[in-house]
Amino acid sequence: MRYIGSKTRILDFISETIESTYGAIDQAIIADLFAGTASVAEMFKHKNAQVISNDYLNFSYALQIAKIKLNSEPECRMGYQSAIEELNATQGIEGFFFKEYTIEGCKESEYSRNYFSSENAKKIDAICMKLREWKRIHDIDTDMFYLLTASLIDAITKVSNTSGTYGAFLKKDDERKIKPMHLMSDGELQSGATAN
Ligand SMILES: C[S@@+](CC[C@H](N)C(=O)[O-])C[C@H]1O[C@@H](n2cnc3c(N)ncnc32)[C@H](O)[C@@H]1O
Repeated sequence: MRYIGSKTRILDFISETIESTYGAIDQAIIADLFAGTASVAEMFKHKNAQVISNDYLNFSYALQIAKIKLNSEPECRMGYQSAIEELNATQGIEGFFFKEYTIEGCKESEYSRNYFSSENAKKIDAICMKLREWKRIHDIDTDMFYLLTASLIDAITKVSNTSGTYGAFLKKDDERKIKPMHLMSDGELQSGATAN
């Protein structure tokens, strides 16, 4: 996942350094206090550590539920696979993401923002509304809500016109902006939580 400061490329270095400094990771209790994408915490989980993770951003919380807390798919009225299929088939609506983060949506505003194509922003809006509604009517529980939200976050990073952080959009469109957003059903993100 594209995220500023992500440690995905140095996971081996981190794990080797921890092992040579503190000993075996297997069964150790390890805290990842600035988890971000949760990639470091996830690496420790896969090496059988007991993981404590933290971050003050909500996006990271969703990723931590998906990758660290859950070991299997939450049991809900709506299953993960059918939820993903329905979300991918959802018709876009002109909501917050469209109005705030696309050139077309903010043409009446004093600011012009170019984070997403209109199509993708409308889809993000529709998916957010659907997730909230499913949670409200108990088709999904809180864990499933965050598992699906994590899938949405992962999909958003693949179509956003940014360098990986959302403080600024790119002045020249990145080609990923025009790709239609698609939530992965069997991606790396959910492998821990959906493998039963
Ligand atoms: C460089 S990123 C971490 C990257 C992470 N190791 C990864 O591989 O994705 C730093 C993270 O620290 C979090 N952070 C910064 N200050 C914090 C604080 N006071 N409490 C909790 N989280 C904090 C940020 O939200 C950000 O996600």
